[in-house]
Amino acid sequence: MPTLGEQETVGALLDRATRHLRQAGLESPRLDARVLLGNAMQCDPSSLLPGSSKPVSPAQAARFDTLIEGRLNRRPVSHLTGRREFFGRAFRVTPDVLDPRPDSECVVELALRHLAAGAPARILDLGTGTGCLLLTLLAERPLAQGLGIDVSKAALAVAGDNAVALNLRDRASFAQGEWFSGVKGRFDLIISNPPYIPSEDIHGLAPEVRNHEPRLALDGGQDGLGPYRIMLPQLAAYLKPEGITILEHGQGQEASIALLAEQSGLEIIATTTDLGGINRGVALKTAPCVKKALGNDAGTP
Ligand SMILES: C[S@@+](CC[C@H](N)C(=O)[O-])C[C@H]1O[C@@H](n2cnc3c(N)ncnc32)[C@H](O)[C@@H]1O
Repeated sequence: MPTLGEQETVGALLDRATRHLRQAGLESPRLDARVLLGNAMQCDPSSLLPGSSKPVSPAQAARFDTLIEGRLNRRPVSHLTGRREFFGRAFRVTPDVLDPRPDSECVVELALRHLAAGAPARILDLGTGTGCLLLTLLAERPLAQGLGIDVSKAALAVAGDNAVALNLRDRASFAQGEWFSGVKGRFDLIISNPPYIPSEDIHGLAPEVRNHEPRLALDGGQDGLGPYRIMLPQLAAYLKPEGITILEHGQGQEASIALLAEQSGLEIIATTTDLGGINRGVALKTAPCVKKALGNDAGTP
């Protein structure tokens, strides 16, 4: 600790906070300390080097101490800083939304492989949360328009803020609802990362997740597949004839989802794995026999 009149340094603060976070059993103490000091000092964390003798003002040091205390109470870093990077863009995050996961980026990549760059497209995102999936797709595909649905009004407010911050408000709209209820028309792409954790498994998740993230964003019912059982049978009626659906899913759920998809008249056209090599996403299209039965327009909700 500095003596009276002496200022703390970046290096000393980083060392002390890293030690406390490590003792508390946190997984990435040095990175967390650096990101939080960057937030307290309003600067890029990568400019804060270990051992640096750069001075930290008493107000910045006090802000940092409060952030570290929050982290020791297992509040997620994204809740403390209010933001998370996803697919190279910053998203506002609050306790009302799921913290966007790097693992979901593979689902966006899969969607982009099926969305032509120079063509207009209508996208539906079910359970939009921060809007990270929809808004990333709109940012990457400038001719696309999208609708994000969420049952949580608070989550929709965050998604709306993110759309404004990313300059996408004119192409993104949001509506409160339960999955397809109130959704009209057909889409080129329907994407969803629904809650898929089995209810019983939630108590075993990290404290950051089980105590601080919304249960509504996590709990997929008894076996985690509840939302897929609601969504999959309705998908064909909301897809354009050549439209596709991309769904994120949990570890080990791919066989059950394949079965539900088949029972719903959908065919798997691609799958994707996350950063850990775990099956994480599936792309589906309407099976030809179902397409014929529905016709191009018949069955449009
Ligand atoms: C796993 S989070 C995904 C959020 C965001 N799409 C992402 O990938 O980070 C699931 C979202 O589904 C929403 N949700 C839960 N039940 C819903 C329902 N019945 N209808 C619509 N949205 C729902 C939650 O509020 C939450 O925002």
